[in-house]
Amino acid sequence: MPVVNYTNNRQPALVQFVASHSSPPSQDLCRGIFQGVLGQPGLNPTENGLVLEQSGDIKGLALVFPEVPIGRSIIELMTVPELAGSPEVQALVESAVARAQALGVNVAHVCVPSDSDRGTLLQQLGFSHVRTYLDMLWSEDSLPKLDLPAGFSARPFRNGDTALLTRVQNNAFTGSWGFCPNTEEQIEYRVHMANSTKKGILFLFDGDNPAGYCWTVRVPAESGPRGMIGMIGITPEYRGKGISRHILQAGMEHLLQSGSKEIGLEVDGDNDPAVRLYTSTGFKITGQRHWFERVFPGT
Ligand SMILES: CC(C)(COP(=O)(O)OP(=O)(O)OC[C@H]1O[C@@H](n2cnc3c(N)ncnc32)[C@H](O)[C@@H]1OP(=O)(O)O)[C@@H](O)C(=O)NCCC(=O)NCCS
Repeated sequence: MPVVNYTNNRQPALVQFVASHSSPPSQDLCRGIFQGVLGQPGLNPTENGLVLEQSGDIKGLALVFPEVPIGRSIIELMTVPELAGSPEVQALVESAVARAQALGVNVAHVCVPSDSDRGTLLQQLGFSHVRTYLDMLWSEDSLPKLDLPAGFSARPFRNGDTALLTRVQNNAFTGSWGFCPNTEEQIEYRVHMANSTKKGILFLFDGDNPAGYCWTVRVPAESGPRGMIGMIGITPEYRGKGISRHILQAGMEHLLQSGSKEIGLEVDGDNDPAVRLYTSTGFKITGQRHWFERVFPGT
């Protein structure tokens, strides 16, 4: 079963493959998100996409996301369940690793659910487990009323806010594990992806100074689209003052008003302030994801 390069004429079949093999299988939102991912600035799927094909049928896909400014590539994998642990999946992963190495980065990272057998395969291919992320879910009946501290205000993203959002996100996340600073082009693109809305991106201001933000998104889930806290950050000078709860709550209120019954998120298990913020807001751990790393020798 050959591993072939992504080509644009394979796109319709790949969109169908991803929509039908996602958990849960879902159509419009999943298709829209995947098409958005393929078109995102810097991915270049004809160079960085690899397809596992058998007699014209798609059996797997690997996308290699270059994050050259921080010396890494992220590999995302999706394969049919019946090929789990097979030589074909191994060939797909090896091809993706070779592509990541050709990009001239120091490391490749892959994230897999902790209960997946893929971790064993990755270890056989020279990867090691470096980080654990937690899946968390909030499904309480209501949020407590919380007034903003004096002088603070919150408002949604408006046209023309791309530079502000880029600055606040880079300012809040620079130094966080695995964060690659974003360009305005990338942020503008992501604001318009199928999983995002302008109303779902909230800024927190102290007077005129941006103090933080919360970027909510929607993902497919069993009970229909689920609201997610995609990104949340407080700029370094405003940290440790207890204001993150206010911008988290603004994002959650938006999601609840938009019809979400439950709200999900992913967080680095080593990120104490974030884990404490979510736990004290009522989020519960529902699963774990393991990040695996392969270091390229001589880089
Ligand atoms: C995560 C983040 C938004 C939290 O904001 P913050 O201003 O640092 O935290 P707050 O002062 O609002 O406190 C939130 C909770 O963390 C605790 N906390 C604050 N600083 C802490 C620290 N340095 N170590 C451990 N716990 C800390 C607080 O006691 C509070 O806990 P509680 O809810 O049980 O009372 C902020 O640290 C940040 O922007 N980090 C970088 C981006 C990031 O990691 N975002 C989260 C991605 S999932």
